[in-house]
Amino acid sequence: MAFTLSCKSALTTHCWRREVSPIWAGGVSSVKCCFLSSVRFKLFSFRASLVPAVFVSLALIGMALAGTAAAGQSVQLSVDVSKTGAKIDRNIFGQFAEHLGHGVYEGVWVGPDSTVPNTRGIRNDVVSALKAIKVPNVRWPGGCFADDYHWRNGIGPAGKRAETLNPNWGGVIEPNSFGTHEFMDFLGQIGADAYVSINVGSGTPREAAEWLEYMTAAQPTTLAKERATNGHPAPYQVAYLGIGNESWDCGGNMTPDYYSSQMKIYSRFVRNYNPAQQDKQQMLKIAVGPGGGEPRWTEWTETIMKAYQQHTWSWDINGLSMHNYTVGNWDHKFASTGFGENEYSQFLKLTLGMEDLINKHSAIMDKYDPQKKVALVIDEWGAWYAPLPGSNPAFLVQQNSLRDAVLAALNLNMFARHADRVRMSNIAQMVNVLQAMVMTDKEKMVLTLTYYVFKMYVPFQDSTFVSVSFDAGTYSHGDISLPRVDAIAAKDKSSKLWLAITNIDPNQPVELEASPAGITAKSAEGETLTAPKVDSVNTFESPNTVVPKPVAAQVRGGKLVLTLEPKSVTVLSIEQ
Ligand code: AHR
Repeated sequence: MAFTLSCKSALTTHCWRREVSPIWAGGVSSVKCCFLSSVRFKLFSFRASLVPAVFVSLALIGMALAGTAAAGQSVQLSVDVSKTGAKIDRNIFGQFAEHLGHGVYEGVWVGPDSTVPNTRGIRNDVVSALKAIKVPNVRWPGGCFADDYHWRNGIGPAGKRAETLNPNWGGVIEPNSFGTHEFMDFLGQIGADAYVSINVGSGTPREAAEWLEYMTAAQPTTLAKERATNGHPAPYQVAYLGIGNESWDCGGNMTPDYYSSQMKIYSRFVRNYNPAQQDKQQMLKIAVGPGGGEPRWTEWTETIMKAYQQHTWSWDINGLSMHNYTVGNWDHKFASTGFGENEYSQFLKLTLGMEDLINKHSAIMDKYDPQKKVALVIDEWGAWYAPLPGSNPAFLVQQNSLRDAVLAALNLNMFARHADRVRMSNIAQMVNVLQAMVMTDKEKMVLTLTYYVFKMYVPFQDSTFVSVSFDAGTYSHGDISLPRVDAIAAKDKSSKLWLAITNIDPNQPVELEASPAGITAKSAEGETLTAPKVDSVNTFESPNTVVPKPVAAQVRGGKLVLTLEPKSVTVLSIEQ
């Protein structure tokens, strides 16, 4: 087996977040990466012409462990902090909360009269857990639900709101007790920005425009006064606006051309009405994008990006959404617990397909938007398994194992490597649904293994990508071969260097030896997450079965030495 993947990632640095100034030209670097051979996955070695600053070279040489590691499984990794890339936008660590199962009701909203400790109806335990992972933005109210949602049902006095149905997700009653004000209150409590998906499928431009006026108008319009009557005189801020959801499927089964016409109308008329938020704090608009890599999806991206290239003053978009779940076979989904190494290796191979999708759609975007003004927003991603036995299948309840922790790290690493184009992502979903951060059961809450990966990666939010190269080695199981190790590096705002390293191999540890050049590394410490089994989970009965534990590299002869445990995710900071 010998094959080559090419991965393109120009290192122009962009800012698309509203509080930051527009693109600055930082120069373009050539990139060579993702070279896979029969014995090695050589990852992410590139030359960069940016920022001639500090030079650090960390040579991390995997040492074969006596009696365990075979020759050819060692890792070599070098980091050059003078070779910086794009900013790893904190929005890459975004969340998604849909009115689906217990994603919002019970998971976030219990109501002010609940015995579960809450603040104005919002669970205190969930808020405190989410604050700790510094959630940058939350996408709401869907998902498929968004194209059925009529915002007026979700405002006004509690108890007087319309009770409607949720036909997408089990046909349950939607009480509308969690609406605009409750969502904004929740965001305020966790410190996140709003990413609101408007109803393009069954709504109208007028309905959506009025919702935005209701939320953002600062002047005393009738809608702004209604907002004040409902308890919030000050305008809300909507940082990100999703123009529909999966409009090629549950959002209306539109053709690319039909959607493109709709997108222009919604982009034109659905405004942020607050003049004070028009400049650097403007609302960024995200168009529906592809849901796969087949011709149907490349045609979709071509159509939207071509329209963008030809756009006039009257409309604009700032992002193109992409959805990609790791699922395998939709009709025979993998189980989220009770599996072994076969399913572990198969599923992780599937998740690495994200790289091809990003490359494919980025290449189309580059054609129409070489300056990378439009972000690729992967606003639904994660593992989608068979529903847990005994759960309502429409509620998409699954467990969250060590495999999911590794999967999350691999995807976050892919996003970081494409940070020049991928500037936002939203894992599906935040609470109780699919690959959740936290799961709740009445007054109980459990933090998942994916939660801990997000927590360990907090230092990468708004950090600067740093080039890293290494021989990953190969982990093989049956006919599956995967890179044994994956890693990214970044500098935070104080120029501290961070490494995130995943040892995919569930059987072999990796002995790392770091030889810093250009600096004197005094120490390296951080946390590692691993578990006895690939399907180890935290449960309500045993919530702390798997938690990160501290690790520290030893300094030997000026080198940093650290053993990475099998099937582990490790994040380290290097002290100089
Ligand atoms: O996340 C669950 C569903 O998956 C969303 O509602 C939809 O957008 C996607 O198909």
